[in-house]
Amino acid sequence: MTTRTVGLDFGTTNSAIGVADGDKVTLARFSHKGGLTDTFRSVLYFHPDNRDKHGRYEAIAGPRAIDRYLEAEGRGRLIQSLKSYLADRSFQATSIFTRTHTIVDLLALLLADLRTRAEEELGPLGSRIVVGRPVHFAHASAPDDEELAVDRLREALARVGWTDVVFEYEPVAAAYYYEAELDHDQRVFVADFGGGTSDFSLIEVGPSHRKSSKRTILGSDGVGIAGDALDAKVLHNVVAPMLGLGSTYRAMFGRELEVPVWIYAKLRRWHHLSFLKTKKNLDLIEEIASQADEPEKIEALQHILEYDLGYHLYRAVERAKVALSASDSTKFEFADPPLQIASAITRPQFEGWIAEETTAMEECVDRLLASTGIDAKDVDQVFMTGGTSFVPAVRRIFDERFGAEKIRAGGEMISVATGLALRSHDV
Ligand SMILES: Nc1ncnc2c1ncn2[C@@H]1O[C@H](COP(=O)(O)OP(=O)(O)OP(=O)(O)O)[C@@H](O)[C@H]1O
Ligand SMILES: [Mg+2]
Repeated sequence: MTTRTVGLDFGTTNSAIGVADGDKVTLARFSHKGGLTDTFRSVLYFHPDNRDKHGRYEAIAGPRAIDRYLEAEGRGRLIQSLKSYLADRSFQATSIFTRTHTIVDLLALLLADLRTRAEEELGPLGSRIVVGRPVHFAHASAPDDEELAVDRLREALARVGWTDVVFEYEPVAAAYYYEAELDHDQRVFVADFGGGTSDFSLIEVGPSHRKSSKRTILGSDGVGIAGDALDAKVLHNVVAPMLGLGSTYRAMFGRELEVPVWIYAKLRRWHHLSFLKTKKNLDLIEEIASQADEPEKIEALQHILEYDLGYHLYRAVERAKVALSASDSTKFEFADPPLQIASAITRPQFEGWIAEETTAMEECVDRLLASTGIDAKDVDQVFMTGGTSFVPAVRRIFDERFGAEKIRAGGEMISVATGLALRSHDV
């Protein structure tokens, strides 16, 4: 008899959920822009006007949240990359309109919508589930922080009815996806590069392991650096200078000062832009604009703040990054008339800006090989997955160590969820 098991990949950027019936996995599909998608954007949106019968502001998650946010022309609150705050002890709660929401509240709202939408297609999903987790959560600085992240996730899952939860490392899950196509046993280095974390497992998989329900996990490691960190570098190096970073203004008594850098630190995470919009900050920026050596740049910043264009700006940054995965150069472009900013970017420039991030990834790969005592030549295959694995500089880390012929890639957006559903047979 086969049993139906459920796997959930709660990702920093995209989530996915599936059920396995024997070896066959069906992922839930979600409607978006008139079509269907396997991924559920991990965002939560609070509509500024719509309230439920208890007077609570309506919270919508996933692809519908983006659509509603865009329809509302930037009004309301859009929350993203929630997973990156799970291990952050300083992030306890945030106030949305008039109400305070803890991080578990926010997470539970997101998961509740995800569950409802998924059940519309997959049927009842029960109380038992295998859920992915990164090897190390982003912003975790001690083992206690990892526990906090798992506890928060567990509590939010319980609130939406998943009370029997098993966590599995995301790259181990991706190995199950990879294994499904294998006709012989292999020792595989699995590398999953997402939005918030990069995770690695060295694991032995294949038909004989599947038969015995035992995969040999030789080791796992990870870093809290991935796609979001690359976006932040593009923002800092391309966008911030066009909005006044590094330019000067005349302060009191004719002193020439640089526009404060902290403004641009807030820009790095677009959803922090709202923190810039206090009266005090807006007055300061207005003052700087009136005395700036390059006033048009500060005016561009004011335009973005005034019209809440953070999300659009962030998408333009991501578009440029994604374009650089496929071509040697691109043009960052952002227009919201009369504001228009553009800048050419080459791949070598981008690779220079992200060198710190790719070095951290490389060091982590080397650390895992060293800690398991396994030489790169004794690894049969590398399996790369996750959205950020498309970045050529990230691929190069593996080409250099293992040789291009050993690299396989695939299932970028679905491998972890599919693998978790399969994994749930064995737990
Ligand atoms: N072609 C591409 N080139 C570069 N980056 C890309 C490309 N496609 C997607 N990405 C990036 O991949 C990331 C999302 O990948 P993915 O959906 O695997 O992450 P996630 O599972 O949500 O995050 P995590 O696993 O870290 O929790 C985003 O940062 C996105 O910008
Ligand atoms: Mg992921």
